[in-house]
Amino acid sequence: MSSIYIRGGYCLNGEVDIQGAKNAALPIMAASLLNKGIVCLRRCPQISDVRYMCRLLEQMGARIETDGDRLILNAKEIDPIEISALDAGKMRSSVLLLGPLMGRKMEVLMPYPGGCTIGARPVDWHIEALQQMNVQVSMTEEGIYCRTQGIKGAKIVLSYPSVGVTENVILAAVLAEGRTEIVNAAMEPEIEDLCRFLTAAGARIDGIGTNRIRITGVEQLHDVQYTIMADRIVAGTYMTAVAAAGGQAVLKGVQVRHVQSVADVLAESGCGLIICEESIKIIAPSVLLGVKNIQTQPYPGFPTDMQSQMMACLCGAHGESSITENIFENRFKIVPELLRMGADISVKGQSAVIRGSTKLHGERVTARDLRGGAALVAAGLSAEGTTIVQECEYISRGYVDLCGDLCSLGACISEGQ
Ligand code: UD1
Repeated sequence: MSSIYIRGGYCLNGEVDIQGAKNAALPIMAASLLNKGIVCLRRCPQISDVRYMCRLLEQMGARIETDGDRLILNAKEIDPIEISALDAGKMRSSVLLLGPLMGRKMEVLMPYPGGCTIGARPVDWHIEALQQMNVQVSMTEEGIYCRTQGIKGAKIVLSYPSVGVTENVILAAVLAEGRTEIVNAAMEPEIEDLCRFLTAAGARIDGIGTNRIRITGVEQLHDVQYTIMADRIVAGTYMTAVAAAGGQAVLKGVQVRHVQSVADVLAESGCGLIICEESIKIIAPSVLLGVKNIQTQPYPGFPTDMQSQMMACLCGAHGESSITENIFENRFKIVPELLRMGADISVKGQSAVIRGSTKLHGERVTARDLRGGAALVAAGLSAEGTTIVQECEYISRGYVDLCGDLCSLGACISEGQ
């Protein structure tokens, strides 16, 4: 298990290019199965979740070449018979293969998905939606067994705007017979990116970026080259890191509207923000202020994937802050680690109150999930002394080079065992 060592007290200054988005790359890679030919993806982040997805696609017969952050996938012939439970269990996104596989094959057995244990994360809505599209589903000991005589368009009304379910329905609908309408669809930018990729490959999709998406099935897709959007959560992580450590930095490539809710909270805490078309400059204040009533919500609300990083950053703020986690029920796993670093946080149900003004001190702490791990690194930047974040494999699931990026901004940070 690897660790990250951070010596606190160094301000962050400079510029950094933001990597491609994990949560766009994974569904787009799954979508590549819909094309019986070649897909070329640019700005594909070299992270472990992308490597697991490559392995799953290769097990099905896809051929994949990588060249830096370019990924070339050839899914001409696929046979999803022997999908490894070990690999599928490594990430949540393996469930996204069901939609495209049902678009191309009559049956599939998908081992149960894994991912960060930030809540129960069931797959019931995925299954209900596929059932409405003429897929017979049974849950077996080995995994989710799906069979269809031909996938059919349907009106799918989501009781909650789930990101994964919206994506799975879109993926199933692209080659389906007839028209599909998703009502109360999630509006996360990564879904928009998936739709833009699919339309570039010949899919017919209306209502992109809204909560009502309509897909008209087509016979086939064609070869395509596509550049994946920049990762708004990585950009948000670096924004909180600058706010916590001090200094000022320009984050390049990010669409400002994608990080608006995070920027709003940081502005309330006293940060300066200079917005350009595809970059954002964050200027840390001399005194960071607490922010009350941060609520995680589906997009365009404050993202659950930024909750831990914001909490870590607000530990050093002047005054009280409060955060309510409304999406996942087990996403305060960072709290005991921050307490060990001297933070003053109390949790009641799904809400946390952070009493700031405490100077954090370096400690040996443990990453318990992807974003929580990155948040502990941000905490270490503002702490006195050396922080060691253990079990950083979680961080590699979503960040191409967290240490390298922060180092280039002036942090005193290194990787080790
Ligand atoms: C995606 C993101 C993840 C992010 C989350 C919320 C990817 C690869 N992952 O995860 O980083 O934190 O959106 O923005 O894009 N639910 C059910 N039944 C289901 C499906 C979901 O009860 O069948 C619940 C979940 O347990 C959770 C809520 O719905 O409480 C939201 O989950 P969802 O939007 O589906 O998140 P993911 O797609 O898993």
